[in-house]
Amino acid sequence: MTMPVDTSILPDLRQDLAARSRELFIGGKFQPAQSGETFAVIDPATGEEFASVASGGAADIDLAVKAARKCFDSAAWSGKTPAERARALTRLADLVEANGSRIALTETLDNGMPMMMAFFGGVAAASEQLRYNAGWATKLNGETFTPSNPGEWHAFTTREPVGVVGAIVPWNFPFVMAVAKIAPALAAGCTVVLKPAEQTPLSAVILAELIAEAGFPEGAVNIVTGYGKTAGAALVEHPLVDKISFTGSTATGKGIVHACTGNLKRVTLELGGKSPVVIFDDADLAKAIPGTAMGIFGNAGQVCAAGSRLFVHERVRDQVMEGLAGFARSLKLGSGLSPDTQMGPLVSQVQFDRVSSYIDSATSEGATAVAGGAAAAVEGHEGGFFMQPTVLSDTAPGMKAVEEEIFGPVLCTQTFGDDDLEQVAAAANNTTFGLSSAIWTRDMSTGLKLAKRIRAGMVRINGGAGGPDPAMPLGGFKQSGWGRENGRNGIEAYTEIKSVTINL
Ligand code: NAI
Ligand code: MG
Repeated sequence: MTMPVDTSILPDLRQDLAARSRELFIGGKFQPAQSGETFAVIDPATGEEFASVASGGAADIDLAVKAARKCFDSAAWSGKTPAERARALTRLADLVEANGSRIALTETLDNGMPMMMAFFGGVAAASEQLRYNAGWATKLNGETFTPSNPGEWHAFTTREPVGVVGAIVPWNFPFVMAVAKIAPALAAGCTVVLKPAEQTPLSAVILAELIAEAGFPEGAVNIVTGYGKTAGAALVEHPLVDKISFTGSTATGKGIVHACTGNLKRVTLELGGKSPVVIFDDADLAKAIPGTAMGIFGNAGQVCAAGSRLFVHERVRDQVMEGLAGFARSLKLGSGLSPDTQMGPLVSQVQFDRVSSYIDSATSEGATAVAGGAAAAVEGHEGGFFMQPTVLSDTAPGMKAVEEEIFGPVLCTQTFGDDDLEQVAAAANNTTFGLSSAIWTRDMSTGLKLAKRIRAGMVRINGGAGGPDPAMPLGGFKQSGWGRENGRNGIEAYTEIKSVTINL
């Protein structure tokens, strides 16, 4: 495979990032925060500051929301034909691709992920999101009805944009998550205020530049970097916002639901997970072992759909545990900027401390680390937040590490015997979450029976890691969220239905 990321631009990129603080994008213009404040952007591979961004607050959110409101109410965007909206989104996709190296390298510097992941899981996936949703702009439609009232009637529904959308995204896949919210919102005719995560604000600023270049109307998309408790909270509470689309932790998601009651904003939530992986004794272990490993070690486990609770049949237990431990030990850790790095650092000191405390609590409750279990030393990156890929055996329900989302490279494992499928399903479902799941078996009847019983929004049979498809609904049962992103459901979540009834 040819290397899609041109690293020769890195010295200039670093220099430019160090030279000037990034600004907010409001009403089509870049501007500093009203307070004049900025905050530091940290490279998690070194622990050092390498850039800074404007620290947007409530005053900036207010300006951004008003710009989005004005754009929406004037129909400067929603009044464009669906084909024009599709064309603008496609133009943005072209610009994303043309700036692929800059976006991927910025994402790697900011988040720590390997640059190939930043490229394929970030740039390429974002471009696909834009192209997929561009296609929907011309296909959103209503239905016709025959009312049963006396007389002669014609009735139909239309789908109209929900209005001003507040999009709040986390730090684990910053660029593609921002685009995955903006793309369907814009395709539906909404306008947007995006609040990126404070840990990883930089790729969203590039997105703002590309949006300016693509020629969207002023205020169609506004991007305010800032902290969750200030900028995020102000966006969620703003009375001129019609909908919040949030991806992040379950705790913050619950707070957002409360904060949205003021004007009864529509809310979609893509929250955490504690997703089960079930390996039956007939599974193709040559695929199941690396698939399971990358399902928890990919992006250092900082993935909402990470397969974090393994249930392995006792007949293949030793082979699977040895395979997983070997895989974990062989993973090449390092800076995401090194081409051979397979796993980068955790995003922040806070996340490193959080993951460490889960590992400590598990081992103190009787679990054993058969691989990893501690900080990883990476030469030349002593200040980085590197954690060893960790496989825990002897974990059990009730342990904190088994119950809660760790969001790090930590796999909890349990075994099962020749139990019936109901018991395996009950064990897999023994969680407050319900985002994703993985099943490994050669018997498709077993696979489909278990798929039917698992209470989760996504099931993958005999497939390992791999990014979400923009056409496939993504979201969770139970405390993993409300609603779905992607697919028809994803774009429809940015619309309201209107019934029109005509007496003939
Ligand atoms: P978080 O959910 O607090 O942050 C996500 C986003 O929400 C960020 O943009 C943040 O600025 C914003 N935010 C925070 N508080 C807010 C508020 N009161 N109002 C509006 N917006 C607010 O997650 P955090 O603290 O970064 O990570 C904590 C844990 O959350 C992780 O360890 C992980 O378990 C989970 N998480 C799950 C993600 C997922 O994709 N499901 C993504 C990120 C974190
Ligand atoms: Mg950072």
